[in-house]
Amino acid sequence: MPAFRPPFRHFGARMTQDQLKQAVAQAAVDFILPKLDDKSIVGVGTGSTANCFIDALAKHKGAFDGAVASSEATAARLKGHGIPVYELNTVSDLEFYVDGADESDEHLNLIKGGGAALTREKIVAAVAKTFICIADASKLVPVLGAFPLPVEVIPMARSHVARQLVKLGGDPVYREGVLTDNGNIILDVFNMQITNPVELETQINAIVGVVTNGLFAARPADLLLLGTSEGVKTLKA
Ligand code: 5RP
Repeated sequence: MPAFRPPFRHFGARMTQDQLKQAVAQAAVDFILPKLDDKSIVGVGTGSTANCFIDALAKHKGAFDGAVASSEATAARLKGHGIPVYELNTVSDLEFYVDGADESDEHLNLIKGGGAALTREKIVAAVAKTFICIADASKLVPVLGAFPLPVEVIPMARSHVARQLVKLGGDPVYREGVLTDNGNIILDVFNMQITNPVELETQINAIVGVVTNGLFAARPADLLLLGTSEGVKTLKA
């Protein structure tokens, strides 16, 4: 009779993607909390992982002053928890920006914008001293580009920008029915093997009509908290 083998239960092997998101969100809270005081304002990203972060952060709302939001959806969620939301223009000091990503490479260059909030995300990230990216393990890739690269575009420039993106080797697709918080449209660029993300970010941003693109490479994340079945791993740029 064969020996009884208990089912394989590697730590976290049964963790769902949602549980991994919650784990990295909690890890980000644990990382920033000791560094916050009652004057601190936290920059907060957009998306399902950022939502987990907001919910975890809200349990400590007395430990900091408030937040800057990277989207209307994030502002609403923060306010729903009773966290004061400040306009970025009124804030001079932002120690941390915490946000998810659609892809990250090992250098912490990111693709963002799956939730169409890329421009405000990039602005808040630019102001913050430390950008902490939180993501489940599926987001770490050897080369960026399997996830279509979002580009925010002024509506009247849509066709012009699309033609220029084709010249750069991509296949842009109009994201139907989506307007950004800034009133612009999104082109998702498929089939890009992004081996030089800084150069491509610059090239795309130079196209007239582009507001910005979802490559965060000129200003990558400083820290990536990655949720894996072995626990949360920390990667540094
Ligand atoms: C929104 C973003 C998000 O950070 C990105 O899409 C990841 O989202 P999620 O945490 O839901 O996977 O860039 O514009």
